[in-house]
Amino acid sequence: MSATSAAPALPAQYAGTAAAQVVAGLPSTTVVCDMYEPRGAEIYHDFALGDISEAQDILREVRAAGPGTILELAAGSGRLTLPLLALRREVLAVDLSASMLELLRTRLAQLPPSAAARCTVIQGDITTYVAPRPVAAAVLGTTSVSLLTQPQRQAMLRRTWENLAPGGTLVLTSTQIVEDAEDLAERTLEVRGASGAVYLMHDLVAPDRSGRYTVVIGPDNGPQRSRTVCHSYIRVVPLDELLADLTAAGFSVEHTATLPGERYAATLIGVRKEGAR
Ligand SMILES: C[S@@+](CC[C@H](N)C(=O)[O-])C[C@H]1O[C@@H](n2cnc3c(N)ncnc32)[C@H](O)[C@@H]1O
Repeated sequence: MSATSAAPALPAQYAGTAAAQVVAGLPSTTVVCDMYEPRGAEIYHDFALGDISEAQDILREVRAAGPGTILELAAGSGRLTLPLLALRREVLAVDLSASMLELLRTRLAQLPPSAAARCTVIQGDITTYVAPRPVAAAVLGTTSVSLLTQPQRQAMLRRTWENLAPGGTLVLTSTQIVEDAEDLAERTLEVRGASGAVYLMHDLVAPDRSGRYTVVIGPDNGPQRSRTVCHSYIRVVPLDELLADLTAAGFSVEHTATLPGERYAATLIGVRKEGAR
């Protein structure tokens, strides 16, 4: 009797979607994982290398915050870390994912040693991370606040407030579904990574608009390496709820700005810990 391998499957919340159907039809050797696990991190990084979104807006905010160490929360493989280092400031780059940080270390190794030396890479949870000294600015870009549950978000904000020096600034971005987006049906698009690999991306909005799901199907790599499918869930945090959490954590909100998009927009929020800089 020959053993039969199970068909690959996305987690239960994808049941009934076109993405789940496509994945079920892939070879049983297909690796299905979270976006920030080792195989998913490779795919994320391949996209992130060419993605400059938010970078200029965040750099402007950080420059305006004045000199001093920058705490980069959820730094990942360094999409924003490298531009932050270009400001010639010390950067504490914190992320939970060992795989993403490995990719960041590889990128740092390609920088001039004096620039790489200004970055400290820390594997840690941004809800509990304690900085070795108060920082002038903290950054949580790429709408990564949306990866946290509400209790995690509140813990991260309290922790970040503690990590900032008086007068310090936190800059974060959050995702919103564009109010008058006409068509929120599941859609698929082909995306080319920096390596030239072509990925099939499924973009889904939860029926109650409380979040969005992304599924990325990697290319057929031939017999050498199994195929990868990675997925991520991004909460859509109502702006008033996020602003209330920021205020409850002790921040004063300085400004918000919308970074427009076709289906999703990002809101950039600049907040400050009271006190003299
Ligand atoms: C969308 S990626 C952003 C990475 C990077 N900032 C960029 O622009 O490409 C989100 C990152 O958040 C990290 N992450 C999620 N939850 C975290 C937590 N509780 N603590 C630290 N990092 C976390 C993931 O490992 C992932 O690297």
